[in-house]
Amino acid sequence: MTSWRPHPTDTPAVAPSLLAADWSRIDAEVAAVEAAGADLLHLDVMDGQFVDNITIGPVVIRGLRQMTRLYLDAHLMVQEPGRYVEAFRAAGCDGITVHAEAAADVGGTLEAVRRSGARVGLALNPATPLAPFTAHLASIDLLLVMSVQPGHGGQAFRPEVLSKVEEAVRWRRERGLAFAVEMDGGIDAETAILARRAGVDVLVAGTAIFRRPPYGARIEALRAAGSGLSA
Ligand code: DX5
Ligand code: ZN
Repeated sequence: MTSWRPHPTDTPAVAPSLLAADWSRIDAEVAAVEAAGADLLHLDVMDGQFVDNITIGPVVIRGLRQMTRLYLDAHLMVQEPGRYVEAFRAAGCDGITVHAEAAADVGGTLEAVRRSGARVGLALNPATPLAPFTAHLASIDLLLVMSVQPGHGGQAFRPEVLSKVEEAVRWRRERGLAFAVEMDGGIDAETAILARRAGVDVLVAGTAIFRRPPYGARIEALRAAGSGLSA
C-alpha cells in the first residue's frame, strides 16, 4: 500500500494530523495533503477515557483507507488499547501507536501490535519519563514524544520535552537501534527547528497545516525547517 516506514532520517517526515482538517469534506482534505507531499497521515483516536475528547474509530478509518495510499498511523489515546489492536489493523492502519500510560502490560500490548502486522509505536505524555520504558525501545518502530498533553489540537508546544528526545536518540545510537522519533503537538515551522535539532524524525502537525493553507507550502516549510535548510 505504501512505501514509507518509520526510520531515523536527516530529512524529517511530515505527518498531517487530520484532527484539524475540515471533516465536512474529508475526502478532499486527504487528497489535498497527499498531493501536497505528506509522507504519512496521523490519525488521532480518542476514547473519552484516556483523554476527555472523543474522535474517530475503526469505522471511519476504514473509510479513510479507501481515500489514500498514504501510510496511516493511528495514535491511540485509548485506555487499554490492546483490546482494539486487531480492529484498527483490520481497518487498514499501517502503524499503531499506543500510550505507555494507558496499558497495564505495555510489553504485551506492543507485542499484540507486532503480531497484528502493523508497525509498532509507543507514545509518552509530556510528564512521562523515558527511563521506565527503555527496555521496550528495542522492539518498537516509532517512539512518539508528545509535546502537548494529548486530547486537543491547537495547544502550545512544550519545549521541556526536547531533552526526552535527546535521551532517546542517545539510547538508540549507543545500542544500534533503528526506531524513529516522532513529535506531536504545537509543531509549526518554528518549533520544528527545535524538534529536529533534538533529533526528531517525524513531525506531526494539525493546526500548522490544515488551518494555514496552502498545504504544500506548509508541509515544505516544516520539512525545510526541520532539515535546518531554512531560518
Ligand atoms: C493531540 C493530538 C495531536 C494534535 C496536534 O492530542 O495527538 O495529533 O492533532 O495538533 P496541533 O498540531 O494543532 O498541535
Ligand atoms: Zn496525535
